[in-house]
Amino acid sequence: MMNDRDDRCRYAGLDRVHAPGLSVGESAMRLRRLAYVEMRLMRLFASRVVTIADREVKLLMGRLQYEACMHADGLRARVLEMRVAKGRLDVVPDEALAVFFDEAEHLPNAPAFLAVVTHLIKPALRQAYQAYLREANHLADYPSVRLIKQCLADEIEHPTLLESVLNRTPFTDADRELAEAWQHSLMRYLSAAGGLDGTAPRSELPPRKASQVPYRIPHELTRDDSFARVWDFVKPPYEHVADHLNYMMSIRLSEINVAEGLAIVLFETQDMPWSFYADISRHCWDEVRHSMFGEAAIEATYGDRAALPMRDYEGVFAMEAPPLEQYAVLGLEVEGKNMKYPPGKRLEWEFCRDAARHELMTTFQDFDWADEVLHVNIARRQLDHWFEGGLEHIAPFSAAGREHRTAVKQRHAPVPVIPSSSSQSKEFTEP
Ligand SMILES: [Fe+2]
Ligand SMILES: [Fe+2]
Repeated sequence: MMNDRDDRCRYAGLDRVHAPGLSVGESAMRLRRLAYVEMRLMRLFASRVVTIADREVKLLMGRLQYEACMHADGLRARVLEMRVAKGRLDVVPDEALAVFFDEAEHLPNAPAFLAVVTHLIKPALRQAYQAYLREANHLADYPSVRLIKQCLADEIEHPTLLESVLNRTPFTDADRELAEAWQHSLMRYLSAAGGLDGTAPRSELPPRKASQVPYRIPHELTRDDSFARVWDFVKPPYEHVADHLNYMMSIRLSEINVAEGLAIVLFETQDMPWSFYADISRHCWDEVRHSMFGEAAIEATYGDRAALPMRDYEGVFAMEAPPLEQYAVLGLEVEGKNMKYPPGKRLEWEFCRDAARHELMTTFQDFDWADEVLHVNIARRQLDHWFEGGLEHIAPFSAAGREHRTAVKQRHAPVPVIPSSSSQSKEFTEP
């Protein structure tokens, strides 16, 4: 028996070149299941961007939903290289697996959700990827092997991140019991599916419990006390440089509202092509990042991330407006109008560079501008398909949506953005 690992300079460094491994059919079936699992995880994490109040968990959910999406995207592309027809990709590969995720969507609170994801779902996913690497022939199936190694790099990092947010999540005895009961219940559905990759022996599928009724995201703003909150901000003129910079940092911070709206668009819009979900998932994560732009810039400026407040009205609009309306308003009326210079995204960047001379905000606004160009292109592409009649006929619809957003904005008077009294600017002083 030859030992594959004896001589790393042969076979371009690949492992398991002599093992018969998995066939194309077996590999494609497993990868198709894993693509489905990652797609369901994208949905699951997106739903928690909306419903979990804890700022750190909310932000992490934004990242996890996007990385699950990227894994699903890569796996789907690979499956199509394995003699599988495109239509098969959107067929549910296993009813038991679907029921497992339908049930998981109902996980009742943040502690139970985090415990089950950290201790059951993510370890099962990591093991499924590791099993694939153990069983495949790495020479025959190298494109899959490389992709799975990339997914695994994330799946090795995610548990560390989840453990750290779990460790700071307060658990009552009742929470602990609830988490255990849910983990036990979900394990029965998972075992009926033969595990995430379907390779374990199967038990009988228990009847649906929570998922007899499909999960719906409660449309309520969830916030912890990380930041002071106001309804809306007064926009200072550009000439009031320090005030305008504070306003801009608070606007970035408040983009978590947009991310939550997009998470709802992703979760609630049914029967769209995969490219729609991939685009919205990316857009959602970008808006989570933009909120962190604000947080990091405020922290770098004042030594305290909570020195400036965030605003709520955009979040309330996102909870009230149907997905198509809020997406049309965001993509066409808000982001689309930000492309016009002056003022637009370019002027925001120039202001940070030339007037505020704030190096970190200059970097953030530079990338924010690039992201927004991408978002406008995404929105135009997706709305052309989604809106009946296409972009050509959408203007009255998006304008009505903008009026709705303005009406929400006007429910309460805006207030000036003022740094909290304990905060002092560390790195930035008006030039
Ligand atoms: Fe943004
Ligand atoms: Fe955006």
